[in-house]
Amino acid sequence: MKQFIINGGNPLKGDVTIGGAKNAALGIIAAATMVPEPVILYNMPDIRDVQILLDVLKDIGVKVEYQDKHAVKIDASKFKYKKVDNDELRLMRGSYYLVGAMLGRFKEASVLMPGGCNIGNRPIDLHLKGMRALGANCDIDGGSIKATARRLTGSAIYLDKVSVGATINIMLAAVLAYGTTTIENAAKEPHVVDVANFLNSCGAKIKGAGTDYIRIYGVQSLHSSTYSIIPDQIEAGTMMIAAAATKGDVTLRGIIPKHLEAIAAKLSEMGVNIETGDESVRVSSNSRPKPVHITTLPYPGFPTDMQSQICALLATSTGVGYIKETLYDRRFGYVNEFERMGASIVVDNNLAVVTGVPKLKGARVNTTDMRAGAALVIAGLMAEGTTTIDNIEFIERGYENLAGKLKALGGDISLVDIPDDDDSLEEKNII
Ligand code: EPU
Repeated sequence: MKQFIINGGNPLKGDVTIGGAKNAALGIIAAATMVPEPVILYNMPDIRDVQILLDVLKDIGVKVEYQDKHAVKIDASKFKYKKVDNDELRLMRGSYYLVGAMLGRFKEASVLMPGGCNIGNRPIDLHLKGMRALGANCDIDGGSIKATARRLTGSAIYLDKVSVGATINIMLAAVLAYGTTTIENAAKEPHVVDVANFLNSCGAKIKGAGTDYIRIYGVQSLHSSTYSIIPDQIEAGTMMIAAAATKGDVTLRGIIPKHLEAIAAKLSEMGVNIETGDESVRVSSNSRPKPVHITTLPYPGFPTDMQSQICALLATSTGVGYIKETLYDRRFGYVNEFERMGASIVVDNNLAVVTGVPKLKGARVNTTDMRAGAALVIAGLMAEGTTTIDNIEFIERGYENLAGKLKALGGDISLVDIPDDDDSLEEKNII
């Protein structure tokens, strides 16, 4: 087990560069398997989920070559249809994009059901509905998502719920289909746009990504491309909140400010100073935050993936705020851990009522999911005393070198690795 040990109280100060977006990278890596020529992807985040997916690609016959730490060449020219049943896929979510990609390319896919964070019910009915509309037979069978089609034909698809995963999977399946596919009530998240832009750079014809009505005009083949993945909206938002929570002064570089508008607006409402540049945002604060009410929504609303991090900040506000979670039914699992640190939070179904306390206090806490883990890091940085966060492997799935980046900003955080067969705390690696 790996842990973070944080001595709280240091204000974060300085500049930090934000890495490539996890959820765009996963969709784009899957999309790259549809291209019968090499593609080079830049700004690839060096995170666990990406490593798992790339390892799986290698295993099924796709050539993967790192050019440097953040540039990967994916060559699927010799890729032949294969069942994807690698056990590691249970650890992540984005692997289901291989269904759309392989169905699109081979008219056949069999991919182990994805896992990912335990944040509530995560059905895939809309993915299946979309692929069926294109003419595929698909179902969940023996723990895998299976899909086959004699040919895929464009169709008009309405998504009953805004779903990032279904929007991307349908786009992937439709790119090489015969005729035009439309997706109504499509997700508008930046990573949906990024996957569409990547596919277009390879010769696809996707229009309207970023709106709720996407048109995909089927093409016969895709070709090689080089593409740079967008910066990660959630890593950026996490750093913004960490800066505010520690009453620091941090400039985030290499970001797209437009993607951060909902987060920046909430922080401003809480009294945090936000100065936006062309590709940067400076976040500073010197007082306790004001209480606010937050409702998570699909983009451009406040992201569910930022819900736990803003809860950490709200936990020390000067009054009572609430957070309403509208996407997942179990995304407040971290609240018990915050309570160990002295937070006062009452959860009723999808509503958390957060009464601000003057200070959080260090404690030993456990990571319940990736974003909740990042929220505990923020809580530890702002708390009085020492916080030990267990099971930070969840965090490493989606954040590259989080401790290193925070340490460079003045945070007192170290990573320790406890060997599985050793109960004693062996400090192995201080970043
Ligand atoms: N939904 C359905 N049926 C479906 C698909 C989704 O009812 O077929 C529902 C879900 O239950 C949820 C809502 O629709 O209530 C939105 O789900 P969505 O499909 O958008 O989520 P996802 O594709 O499973 C991605 C991200 C999540 C992020 C959500 C929402 C990836 C790999 N994951 O999940 O990211 O929370 O979109 O923005 O892209 C994270 O990065 O920590 C993370 C959990």
